[in-house]
Amino acid sequence: MSTTAAPAATYSMKNPFPAQHVANVQLNGPGSKKETRHHAISLDGSGLSYMPGDALGLVASNCPALADGLVKALGFTGDETVPGKDGQPKPIAQALIHDYVTNFADKKFIEACVAKGVSELAPLLVPEAADKLKTYLTGRGEAHDYLDILTEFPQLKFAPDEFAKLLRRLPPRLYSIASALSAHPGEVHLTVATVRYDIRGRTRKGVASTFLADRWSEDTTAGIYLQSQQKHFFLPPDPNTPIIMCGPGTGIAPFRGFVADRIVTGAPGKNWLFFGEQKSSGDFFYRDEFEKFIAGGKLKMTCAWSQDQAEKVYVQHKIVEHGAEVWKWLEEGADFFVCGDKTRMAADVDKALHEVVAKHGGKTPEQAAEYMEGLKKAKRYKRDVY
Ligand SMILES: Cc1cc2nc3c(=O)[nH]c(=O)nc-3n(C[C@H](O)[C@H](O)[C@H](O)COP(=O)(O)OP(=O)(O)OC[C@H]3O[C@@H](n4cnc5c(N)ncnc54)[C@H](O)[C@@H]3O)c2cc1C
Ligand SMILES: NC(=O)c1ccc[n+]([C@@H]2O[C@H](COP(=O)([O-])OP(=O)(O)OC[C@H]3O[C@@H](n4cnc5c(N)ncnc54)[C@H](OP(=O)(O)O)[C@@H]3O)[C@@H](O)[C@H]2O)c1
Repeated sequence: MSTTAAPAATYSMKNPFPAQHVANVQLNGPGSKKETRHHAISLDGSGLSYMPGDALGLVASNCPALADGLVKALGFTGDETVPGKDGQPKPIAQALIHDYVTNFADKKFIEACVAKGVSELAPLLVPEAADKLKTYLTGRGEAHDYLDILTEFPQLKFAPDEFAKLLRRLPPRLYSIASALSAHPGEVHLTVATVRYDIRGRTRKGVASTFLADRWSEDTTAGIYLQSQQKHFFLPPDPNTPIIMCGPGTGIAPFRGFVADRIVTGAPGKNWLFFGEQKSSGDFFYRDEFEKFIAGGKLKMTCAWSQDQAEKVYVQHKIVEHGAEVWKWLEEGADFFVCGDKTRMAADVDKALHEVVAKHGGKTPEQAAEYMEGLKKAKRYKRDVY
């Protein structure tokens, strides 16, 4: 590709590299209730490089159909000029696709609606209604976006500039890199859960995950940049060090990169991956690859299928079940990695590890907590959770 591309060091969040999307494959099979996709992005011509554990920043754009709906609800033609996020004038139809958050409204907009006489929304703005306001704006299955509010209150009228000023700038999204340059030269791979849900009869789309799934065709480019995570989430420098990786759902992403890198570079350290998803039949991401590594004696893998039986089985249950061996690996010097859901999974896995250390290390809860603290200080317990 281009030999005139800017040097890698100049690519950043502010000056992203225009990259091509070279693969987009659904990882779920029949029987799955989920939409998780493997994406490959070419680094060709960028000079960019990364380490296993790093993240990719993606400058995605909004669904044009939502922008179109908003233009119509506002009574605009779409050609009205407003400042884009760089301050330069552009047609509002374009700004609503590329520059501003359109899939969630915020408090500033509610205040503007009330100021324009929509008294029905005023009760949401009193301090005691903070929780109600949060639910109204972001609640699961309840969130109201701009289109909902403009449709419900058609008397609302905004000048194009006035409306644009109320919007937040659209931020880029980060994704854990699911590849290794040693094994997948010139590419970045991602494992992304596509965010789609219905509220009040309309399908809502997560901006970046549906941009990747639906709107980034192979013949267009999108801005990317790399974010080093090597301060907190890195493979042990000694290739002999055993590693235990816990990555349910999309949390598997960095570990696909870790395992591939350790195998290609001939790292002698043992690799153990705990993976969890709903169904073994439809949600075993990268199954062929991992089974090949298992058969070759390069990987130990323990899976928790949460919906293969009546009772939920999660990765933390498997960690406790295999506690004696987990403890043995830790005592042999293994690093322990966790990636994926922050709010529930990472906290539950942390509890399970304390339990394992207490039970198999013969420690009190306080001593187990001290041991875990020691692992963290030694950078042997590393998490990348979101
Ligand atoms: C370091 C890092 C690494 C990451 N790695 C990965 C990764 O490897 N794979 C991955 O898939 N993601 C990853 N993420 C998350 C990713 O950055 C995005 O947040 C995610 O893809 C959603 O972005 P989106 O633009 O598609 O959705 P957005 O437009 O941001 O919308 C998502 C929002 O929709 C809300 N929502 C979802 N369902 C409902 C509902 N029913 N009702 C109301 N609201 C709802 C969610 O709560 C969330 O706030 C990572 C995040 C970080 C910080
Ligand atoms: N904050 C939240 O409430 C919430 C909820 C869901 C997803 N998410 C986010 O949504 C994105 C996509 O999720 P994902 O597709 O990667 O997978 P995920 O929703 O994290 O699910 C992966 C697997 O983890 C299981 N799981 C659910 N709760 C768990 C827990 N407490 N401990 C351990 N495992 C648990 C799931 O089981 P079941 O599905 O059968 O319960 C499933 O088998 C991520 O960004 C995640 O952080 C957030």
